[in-house]
Amino acid sequence: MSMSFPLYAPAEEHDMLRETVRALSDEKIAPHAAAVDENGEFPWDAYKALVAADLHAVHIPEQYGGAGADALATVIVIEEVARACASSSLIPAVNKLGTVPLMLSASEDLKQRYLAPVARGEGMFSYALSEPEAGSDAAAMKTRAVRDGDHYVLNGTKMWITNAGVSEFYTVMAVTDPDAGARGISAFVVEKDDEGVSFGAKEKKLGIKGSPTRQVIFENVRIPADRMIGEEGTGFKTALATLDHTRITIAAQALGIAQGALDYAIGYVKERRQFGKAIAEFQGLQFMVADMAMKLEAARQLTYAAAAKSELAMHGQKVADLTFFSSAAKCAASDAAMEITTDAVQLLGGYGYTRDYPVERMMRDAKITQIYEGTNQIQRVVMARQLLK
Ligand code: CAA
Ligand code: FAD
Repeated sequence: MSMSFPLYAPAEEHDMLRETVRALSDEKIAPHAAAVDENGEFPWDAYKALVAADLHAVHIPEQYGGAGADALATVIVIEEVARACASSSLIPAVNKLGTVPLMLSASEDLKQRYLAPVARGEGMFSYALSEPEAGSDAAAMKTRAVRDGDHYVLNGTKMWITNAGVSEFYTVMAVTDPDAGARGISAFVVEKDDEGVSFGAKEKKLGIKGSPTRQVIFENVRIPADRMIGEEGTGFKTALATLDHTRITIAAQALGIAQGALDYAIGYVKERRQFGKAIAEFQGLQFMVADMAMKLEAARQLTYAAAAKSELAMHGQKVADLTFFSSAAKCAASDAAMEITTDAVQLLGGYGYTRDYPVERMMRDAKITQIYEGTNQIQRVVMARQLLK
């Protein structure tokens, strides 16, 4: 695989955007983060604040009423929201995940119909690929969509769907030709209110407790055929091509969680005194802080490079190594986040292990970034395939 390295250069606008999102997150999102985690409630306050500032789905192009933010700007938004509250950062992240299939493959009519309401903050968009028996092996899905005149009829169960129940719209991958394997899968837009759509109980999770994760169940859901995204049989490709862009947003979420933990730990070690001095004066802890910041910055640079490639690809350029970079960014950033948040708990000692401080929540929230949008084992499968093909 040959690697090209287009330079990304965060513009002044990106720095200004970061300042804006950080201020909004500190003021309106961070104060509720502990309660969102404790109560497992969807962060509607955060949603309203993000919609008011037009930050809830910044990636939607201007022609559909969106802010038209580039991939790097979208990463920055997710990073800064995640620094305050990982659950809330799934609002911009999953809105992107649900809508990129349309941006990549849908008819103009479908884009107009479904991107505009998301941009206006009238509804969120989820992405339904996984099933109880088809997680890493996503192509083994069983959900069926059978053509019936001008309609398709969907039956099956999707599992682990982020923001299920609170989202109005769903990109759903389903089998249209059971004999064609991955080439027999198609993608559809399903609405929450379509007859026959229901939701399972909220999963009881380790982290990101404010973001509901539920089954989405389809029982004879009859949708117009024009809700198909792209051509019949192209749904699995669209699903994977989407992940090439959105694994970068999970990297962003991981970076934000890690930055939040690092910032908190640095403040703490400068204040906490033992043996007659601030614990920040112990070189053993200084080295930990240095390593945490080094790992974070390395993952950030990889993520921003991946975002630059995503942006080029979104504009129709062929970017041969986007798949590699996207997987590498997600894998590196999530592994870094797990290490950094675990070290942050260590730096706070016994206090870090309690809910009186935010770092244990950040450590629990970080774990999911190694699992979803493909486990880090699957990211390595994807990277190796790119390298060895
Ligand atoms: N872009 C476009 N097409 C692609 C592609 C890509 N990046 N990668 C593969 N394809 C195409 C292939 O060319 C092939 O098409 P043809 O047969 O026409 O050539 C087709 O897709 C099937 O490819 P593979 O044979 O490689 O597929 P596979 O069955 O071996 O699976 C996999 C590959 C990488 C393991 C894939 O199943 C995978 O990524 N699994 C992980 C699932 C995942 O990431 N789920 C995320 C759910 S969303 C989520 O979790 C939400 C959240 O975080 C909030
Ligand atoms: P499995 O595939 O059963 O994997 C179990 C273990 O086996 C893992 O360690 C895995 O890495 C390993 N493994 C599997 N295959 C291989 C291999 N070939 N080589 C090496 N190791 C392998 N999905 C959606 O579609 N939409 C969503 O919005 C969504 N949100 C989610 C939110 C949460 C909180 C969670 C937990 C999951 C979410 N998912 C979503 C699903 C997520 O993408 C899957 O959980 C993930 O892809 C793994 O699938 P699985 O859980 O079935 O694990």
